[in-house]
Amino acid sequence: MVESQSYQYVKLVDGNYQIVTEELPQPGAGEVLIRIAYSTINPFDKAVFSYLKTPRIGSDGSGTIEAVGDGVSAELVGKKVAFLGDAWGQYKLANAHSLIILDDNQDLTKAANACVNPLTALAQLHLAKKHGATAVIITAATSQLAKQFSRLSQQEGIEVINIVRRDDAVEQLKNENGAKYALNQTSETFLADLAALNKELKPTFLIDYISGDIVGKIFATMPQKSHILVVGNQTGSTLNLNSGDILFNDKTISGFMLHRFLISIPAEERQKILQRVSDDLRDGGKIFGSTIVKEIPLANYLEGLNEQTQVATDGKILINCQ
Ligand SMILES: NC(=O)c1ccc[n+]([C@@H]2O[C@H](COP(=O)([O-])OP(=O)(O)OC[C@H]3O[C@@H](n4cnc5c(N)ncnc54)[C@H](OP(=O)(O)O)[C@@H]3O)[C@@H](O)[C@H]2O)c1
Repeated sequence: MVESQSYQYVKLVDGNYQIVTEELPQPGAGEVLIRIAYSTINPFDKAVFSYLKTPRIGSDGSGTIEAVGDGVSAELVGKKVAFLGDAWGQYKLANAHSLIILDDNQDLTKAANACVNPLTALAQLHLAKKHGATAVIITAATSQLAKQFSRLSQQEGIEVINIVRRDDAVEQLKNENGAKYALNQTSETFLADLAALNKELKPTFLIDYISGDIVGKIFATMPQKSHILVVGNQTGSTLNLNSGDILFNDKTISGFMLHRFLISIPAEERQKILQRVSDDLRDGGKIFGSTIVKEIPLANYLEGLNEQTQVATDGKILINCQ
């Protein structure tokens, strides 16, 4: 039983988000009450803020379990966790099986971005392997998610061709993220360079975060039976594909949403994925650790949302939720 207490969170009220104070809820059957320590700001939060308008906002967070409902082991009380959703607030309720249970010594600032991107990176790997890809092309390769996917793929022996939009980003990925292949999409020789690389590596899986004409041109350089996984749309433009390339070369396309993926896989596989992230963070976050560029209080979430795009190449903005 949770003692009567009020808490603050960011809530959708009449179509706009604002910080409200409400009575702390009791965890129901199968639920836990989490005292949220930190959250981060992801591109998905901008989409929620602008048009998805879910009742609560904040895609990723870390905290400590303070109470459990019926049917949940009391041993979970005091455990550090990372979780998806409803993170911009001081407390939240969650299903006990949806959490990443962290090591007791885990620094919660380093686990505040442990779900959205790490779980998506692992899902992308799962889908690329299922497609039979031995090499993958990825756009917006300076994004935190692409960097995690690239590190993961190096560990799994899958080659990654990183596509960026600046020369300095090519060097940065090679020097700081161990990238073997990185190309600047704004270079005059980009498509010819990519076609030459494709002959050698035969990438059959394209992970796209940017959309637009350039993605269709990249796809057209890829072998028959290649697949595009649409994961994001950083440019806000229409995806322009050559229908002949799809018809005659047997190419395919699908959209990815993390929550859909997580419910599509068996519970044991989901647990393995959650555990893999927890283990990596415990060991220092070599794959899934993300760089924090600054910390802001919950009250300044709007300022953080506006600043997110400017700092995205370097890392994440951390929200201190207490
Ligand atoms: N569908 C899902 O379930 C799911 C889950 C997780 C993430 N995502 C998506 O995955 C993407 C990456 O997420 P993240 O958190 O890693 O993002 P992030 O760290 O904020 O990085 C965003 C990246 O987008 C690049 N970018 C922005 N505008 C661009 C443009 N006009 N052309 C080319 N590149 C551009 C930036 O590159 P520069 O360095 O060149 O500025 C930056 O590296 C986002 O689109 C996000 O919405 C989707």
